[in-house]
Amino acid sequence: MTVHNPSPPTSDDGWWRSAAIYQVYLRSFADANGDGIGDLAGLRERLPYLRDLGVDALWLTPFYPSPMIDGGYDVADYRDIDPMFGTLTEFDDVIVAAHAIGLRIIVDLVPNHTSNAHPWFQAALAAAPGSLERARYHFAAGRGAAGELPPNDWESIFGGPAWTRLPDGQWYLHLFDSAQPDLNWRNPEVRAEFEDVLRFWLDRGVDGFRIDVAHGMIKAEGLPDVGFGQQTGQRQVELLGKSRLPYFDQDEVHDIYRAWRPILDSYPGGRMAVAEAWAETPQRLARYISPDELHQAFSFDFLDAHWSADSFRKVIDSALAESAVINAPTTWVLSNHDKQRHVTRYGDGPAGLRRARAAALLMLALPGCAYVYQGEELGLPEVLDLPDDLRQDPQYLRTGQSRDGCRVPIPWSGKLAPYGFSPAGSTPSWLPAPDTWRELSVAAQTGVPDSTLELYRTALRIRRTHPALSTAAAQIVWEETRPGILAFTRAAGGTTLTCVVNIGDAPLVSTEYGELLVASTALTREGSGYLIPVDAAAWFERC
Ligand code: GLC
Repeated sequence: MTVHNPSPPTSDDGWWRSAAIYQVYLRSFADANGDGIGDLAGLRERLPYLRDLGVDALWLTPFYPSPMIDGGYDVADYRDIDPMFGTLTEFDDVIVAAHAIGLRIIVDLVPNHTSNAHPWFQAALAAAPGSLERARYHFAAGRGAAGELPPNDWESIFGGPAWTRLPDGQWYLHLFDSAQPDLNWRNPEVRAEFEDVLRFWLDRGVDGFRIDVAHGMIKAEGLPDVGFGQQTGQRQVELLGKSRLPYFDQDEVHDIYRAWRPILDSYPGGRMAVAEAWAETPQRLARYISPDELHQAFSFDFLDAHWSADSFRKVIDSALAESAVINAPTTWVLSNHDKQRHVTRYGDGPAGLRRARAAALLMLALPGCAYVYQGEELGLPEVLDLPDDLRQDPQYLRTGQSRDGCRVPIPWSGKLAPYGFSPAGSTPSWLPAPDTWRELSVAAQTGVPDSTLELYRTALRIRRTHPALSTAAAQIVWEETRPGILAFTRAAGGTTLTCVVNIGDAPLVSTEYGELLVASTALTREGSGYLIPVDAAAWFERC
């Protein structure tokens, strides 16, 4: 096997403990070949932008051959690149070019389900009930006199039953779309296959994996009913992260990660894995990041927290307490490709943007690893008014709720859509960018001192170089202050950094925190301090 430049940018094996990781939603990042869809060559061209932004690593959403029913989270071949995105050679080029400028690469692994176009599922369809081919998935007989009812009451996360019936009468399980059949992880062949897939990408030099639906691979023995759902007028998905469903967070799932960890550890340079996992308590979530399992789990409580000092304080304290117990770093996420962008969640328009900028300073000052979703550094809002016929999210087709609005292609430059996303004269981008994004493009914000892009650049630079922020070990100490204000200090190397966020209803005069380093909005002086308006945040330093 050829080893493709596996050398990571630095020799720090614990790099992920305090990294800033940028999520690249590849279809919408940069299109080099002009088909209106982002690709690896486009990403490669834009790597210097990401270096200059000041992030440490990139997480690439799935790029594997796929019918693209769920944006590539329906994988037909785990060891190749979809022609829409490029080739394996282009992938290798991205790794080499990224490493050369100090950026690490994390890839998305989708082990809970394959695409229905995967050769294994095709073989299962062609084989008889009870065959070895079907044993790689969850096939079962239905209930009812003629097996006309699904085997149990499980619901798809995307809406509707989690089972689809085949012409031969058997049903198969899909916790997501019917084009995403769930694998049977009690089958050793499935485990061996994914251990090999891990090695395939590690050999190519990837620095880590984002594990999709990491809590879902093991289903409770006997596939018992939930006993709650459509029959009671509620959706099981509402229980996600609140109580244990028989298809999520089963104890045996941890055996899988205990087998994966030695594989990751057998490669040099600190290869890591981050779990997209939902669990009913922080303690259960923490099990995914035990020292012999994965390295990180996304903190979705932070992603879901409202614009309120109390709600932020609660999730920050709970995440930090948990991480202290297990000595694993926390992760912070404000937006991703599955959630409405936080500018819009925090109120949209100028107020939403002001708050999103303040939230960025809050997140980037916290200890642990910060995930930045492409476009949040530009202050992009959710696109709420996409034409219905262009929406592609399978969840939209099943429930009317669409995640397309946070997946609109990035505006890079120029006065006309798609704003430099594709070369001139290309096919229209797969989702259209609104007119208002002209002012939000990278070119429009570069060098503009009060732009959101420059705010992120400044904050990321300070985060990387300031002694109190660059070490995960510098814990936060909350400052006593009035309701509606979040203020904490981190200290290291003889200097302190204080982050102050005003989520209250009146301006705050800061006098005691030291010298101003950066603020989410222009601050005016007030006596010997500064006036921090409502919905603003600032970092101060004391040496
Ligand atoms: C994860 C992904 C989401 C996808 C789902 C099914 O939640 O983030 O985009 O639809 O898994 O793979």
